[in-house]
Amino acid sequence: MQLSGKIALVTGGTSGIGAATVRRLASEGARVIVVGREGPRLRQPAVHLERTEPIAADVTNAHSIARLMSDVKERHGRLDVLVINAGIATAPPIHELDPTSYDALMDVNCKGAVFTFVHALPLLADGASVVFVGSVAARKGQPGDALYAGSKGFLHAFARNAGTSPELLQRRIRVNVVTPGPIDTPLSAAATADPQIRAYVEGLIPMGRWGKAEEVAEAILFLGSQASSFTTGAEITVDGGMSHA
Ligand SMILES: NC(=O)c1ccc[n+]([C@@H]2O[C@H](COP(=O)([O-])OP(=O)(O)OC[C@H]3O[C@@H](n4cnc5c(N)ncnc54)[C@H](OP(=O)(O)O)[C@@H]3O)[C@@H](O)[C@H]2O)c1
Repeated sequence: MQLSGKIALVTGGTSGIGAATVRRLASEGARVIVVGREGPRLRQPAVHLERTEPIAADVTNAHSIARLMSDVKERHGRLDVLVINAGIATAPPIHELDPTSYDALMDVNCKGAVFTFVHALPLLADGASVVFVGSVAARKGQPGDALYAGSKGFLHAFARNAGTSPELLQRRIRVNVVTPGPIDTPLSAAATADPQIRAYVEGLIPMGRWGKAEEVAEAILFLGSQASSFTTGAEITVDGGMSHA
């Protein structure tokens, strides 16, 4: 087992890519803290497994993140794997963007990600691994995706920089990004409820199909484990070839 004895935390672990990651990390022996907002997703039996510990936190609220990390410190004293995955994709078309819709998306995707990282830093063990979940949207122009794409572009740049920073590397902490293409999850189902949009997206993928959350979880496991011990500031793309089409 690649993660035996390790403590992992996955934000947005209650659904889609995050939930598949929780299952995969736990199957490799990690104890996994599953983070989502208070609500039915956090209470569902699927996230209460033998090696999981669901904890409610809203990543848009710095106090909530601080409480989460203090809880983790009390229970385990450290973190070995941190997966910063919580994200939303709902934003109005570009000409209708306003400060409220801007804040709603950026508070989760950017501010939430940055302050999860910052509050986790004192807890990260020497040799820990941090994985941000980005998106192929940061590389491709797609109708209606400008703000979401921008939020993910921010994460890619932030993680690249953090992953090569001496303060972290002197503690052997690596930071990398997994870059999914279209993956079947509740988030993408909501964004492509119209079958024509779904078929359009499928047509953009050279492999001719949507990805599965479990396929992204495999890349997260690789970056979270010692199998990737010489990889930092890097991206692994899991997109069926979409970024090159
Ligand atoms: N699906 C795709 O095609 C795709 C492609 C590229 C990148 N991604 C990225 O992959 C990540 C996961 O997406 P997904 O498709 O798996 O989405 P999903 O099924 O909708 O899951 C999103 C997760 O984020 C959590 N979350 C949302 N707002 C939160 C908040 N304020 N505080 C704490 N947790 C919050 C949700 O938890 P609760 O609702 O329980 O709070 C949920 O667990 C996102 O960053 C997304 O941008 C997805």
